[in-house]
Amino acid sequence: MCKSCIIPFIILLAIGAGLFYFWPSSSKEDPDYNHLAFKHQFVIAQAHHLIGFNLVDPEQAPPDIRDSVMRGYRLITNTAFYAPKYAHDQLSCANCHFAGGDTLGGKNGGISLVGVTTVYPRYSQRDKKVISLKERINDCFERSMNGKPLPLNSPIMNDIINYLTWISKEVKEVKNIPWLGLPKWESTHIPNPQEGQKIYEHYCQACHQANGQGGGVVEQAMGKTIPPLWGPYSFNNEAGMNTIRVLAPFVYLNMPFQQASLTKEQALDVAAFVLEQPRPPINPSN
Ligand code: HEC
Ligand code: HEC
Repeated sequence: MCKSCIIPFIILLAIGAGLFYFWPSSSKEDPDYNHLAFKHQFVIAQAHHLIGFNLVDPEQAPPDIRDSVMRGYRLITNTAFYAPKYAHDQLSCANCHFAGGDTLGGKNGGISLVGVTTVYPRYSQRDKKVISLKERINDCFERSMNGKPLPLNSPIMNDIINYLTWISKEVKEVKNIPWLGLPKWESTHIPNPQEGQKIYEHYCQACHQANGQGGGVVEQAMGKTIPPLWGPYSFNNEAGMNTIRVLAPFVYLNMPFQQASLTKEQALDVAAFVLEQPRPPINPSN
């Protein structure tokens, strides 16, 4: 092989190795598969460098911050229980930010939160200004959790920030974090809620129930409770999830749970059906 070809060749090999880890492959039967796979080393290309890093568990935090990091983790995975004054629905952050957001998004990974402490403060389309991470968290409290904003310097807010800082620590130096946010789609397909209802009955109802209220438990997922999709205990009308441009890619990438398998057209149709169902209005006095 020519001398000048060797470096690009090595880079290609390394990127290939990185892709290999992203690929949802072989051991789908193993219920721990997703959890374990996330803890392998990942490699991403950043300009002319390759950056290798691991996702870290909250339990790995050093003793001086571990209690706070663990409290933050529990708040995200069991929000209504640990923050009843502020979360008014029956969702937990982790119902959308799977595994407490400690994933790299993508297929079956939910909406990642790894790296949020690196990218905020950041411009918000909704607020038309630069917002802090605390303000972004409160956006989800007021809309996704249909609740109230946390006081910015409350212990709960600090625990959440400490948790997010911990899971983001390996990517502090990464400039553009490719796995944050849901993908934006261009599609000529006109979403059809009638078709969506059929898809709902076929692919979603077994878990989220005919009335959309969920409540049962997913067995393979070790006792995970199924969250409500609409009605008084779900996200409110101002939530990002209550728009087709967020709900459709979320469903396409993540549902049925751990077995995402719809086409984009099916995801758009079923999202149109879900968006027709009732949900609470945002409470302006919050
Ligand atoms: C095998 C059971 C199962 C099936 C089938 C399933 N879901 Fe889910 N869904 C879940 C679980 C469990 C969660 C929460 C995941 C977590 O907490 O890690 C969830 C979360 C969600 C969420 C985000 C939280 C919420 O309640 O708003 C949406 C939206 C959603 N599912 C839509 C759908 C749609 C649409 C379908 C059909 C295409 C579907 N799901 C099929 C189990 C399922
Ligand atoms: C019903 C689903 C849902 C729930 C529940 C939810 N979120 Fe979110 N969250 C979203 C969506 C959708 C986005 C925007 C994703 C995008 O930018 O494409 C988001 C974005 C975020 C972001 C910014 C991420 C980024 O890349 O800029 C943070 C931080 C966040 N959420 C924290 C939380 C916290 C903390 C909770 C619990 C108090 C929570 N979320 C509950 C759906 C949810």
